[in-house]
Amino acid sequence: MEEKLLMVKEKLAKYGQEHLLNFYNELSEDKKSELLDEILTIDFKQLEDLYETTKTKPDFTESKIEPIAHVTKAELSNEEIEKYTKIGEEIVKQGKLAVVTMAGGQGTRLGHSGPKGTYDIGLSSHKSIFELLCDNVKEAKEKYGVVIPWYIMTSNENNEDTVKFFEENNYFNYPKSAIKFFKQGTLPMIDTNGKVLMNEDNTIKQAADGHGGVFEAMRKNGIIYDMKEKGIEYIFISGVDNILAKFVDPVFIGMQADLGKMTASKSVVKAYAEEKVGVFCKRDGKPGVIEYSEISEELAKAKDEKGDFLLGDANIVNHQFHISLLEKISTEKLPYHIAFKKASYKDANGNIIEPEAPNAYKFEAFLFDIFSYVPDMLVYRVKREEEFAPVKNAEGVDSPETARNLYNNYHHLS
Ligand code: UD1
Repeated sequence: MEEKLLMVKEKLAKYGQEHLLNFYNELSEDKKSELLDEILTIDFKQLEDLYETTKTKPDFTESKIEPIAHVTKAELSNEEIEKYTKIGEEIVKQGKLAVVTMAGGQGTRLGHSGPKGTYDIGLSSHKSIFELLCDNVKEAKEKYGVVIPWYIMTSNENNEDTVKFFEENNYFNYPKSAIKFFKQGTLPMIDTNGKVLMNEDNTIKQAADGHGGVFEAMRKNGIIYDMKEKGIEYIFISGVDNILAKFVDPVFIGMQADLGKMTASKSVVKAYAEEKVGVFCKRDGKPGVIEYSEISEELAKAKDEKGDFLLGDANIVNHQFHISLLEKISTEKLPYHIAFKKASYKDANGNIIEPEAPNAYKFEAFLFDIFSYVPDMLVYRVKREEEFAPVKNAEGVDSPETARNLYNNYHHLS
């Protein structure tokens, strides 16, 4: 232990993070050892570099940003729909589709203390978000006679509660063996001076490192291998918070297959300039998404000659990949984006600070940065009222109330 402690001290001194041992002597032997081990796993050089990136704003003026071509669902001919449906249904029936739900984030904005998927948005059925999502694979089982594997990405913070919720709800009567959980990665949070924050219990304040780690997590947890074993070819990946997400869409799958695209995403028309959505684009000729937190006001408002938003395809976190791409890119490191958040912490004097304004940097990789690895992708513009009912905030826009209304309207419920 003494040797380990010396090693840790040396590492911390090198990066100016000695405060992490401020309360070391107060800990039990077990906790001491856990803290040292945790510190040893941290890449402080990476954090130092990330801290440097917080000093500048992302600048797209360097890149050439252009609109990206899209296919509009409403403009497809009956023949096209028929053709794609046939191809897509065949893929589904042959058991070549798997679904991934990214449920690693915390529902902080929603004000729900458990995993977001466990939230009851107040429908008359009182189904939780997870159960509403599960309806997708249950319906496909009825319709196509296949059990679609469903992989759920959790995080250290919510894995246990998520698995327990599925257990308690008997996996919503979907075959338990078809549902697998895997955990995403984390990164320490740092303050405005680049110092790593500590929790009240003297552990390091770690936060989920964004859904861009999904591919690496899938590889590390043997998910990609499992999919290969099962003969999966297409993987639909979505967030946990859109209760109208369509996991199994034969037209979408068929179109992607027919066009031979490695990656495909659904979009809806951006409703207003400030809407908190990422927008699809071409950046220096490659497909991409500019996140709402990073787009300039000018670009967010820019219109084309028809009076529509220049970048009008909003990301609804409905992505579909061919497995060969995932195999290829799961070892790539995606860039981290910066979020400035409110995070409680224990200060150097042992006081617990509950900040009232953002005080800490969180670093997140975004899944859609993977698009720059392909020359071209399919952007499939669907109808908002049919496929997008996000649950993000406790009240107002994208709240349980708005999602409930959208869900009820779509399903003709009152
Ligand atoms: C997200 C999109 C945005 C899109 C909007 C539509 C990203 C980065 N942003 O914004 O472009 O227009 O939804 O509603 O995709 N998640 C994890 N692990 C993490 C972080 C997030 O699993 O570490 C999951 C969340 O549980 C959620 C989804 O990813 O299901 C989206 O993440 P969130 O951070 O809520 O993104 P938004 O700001 O809502």
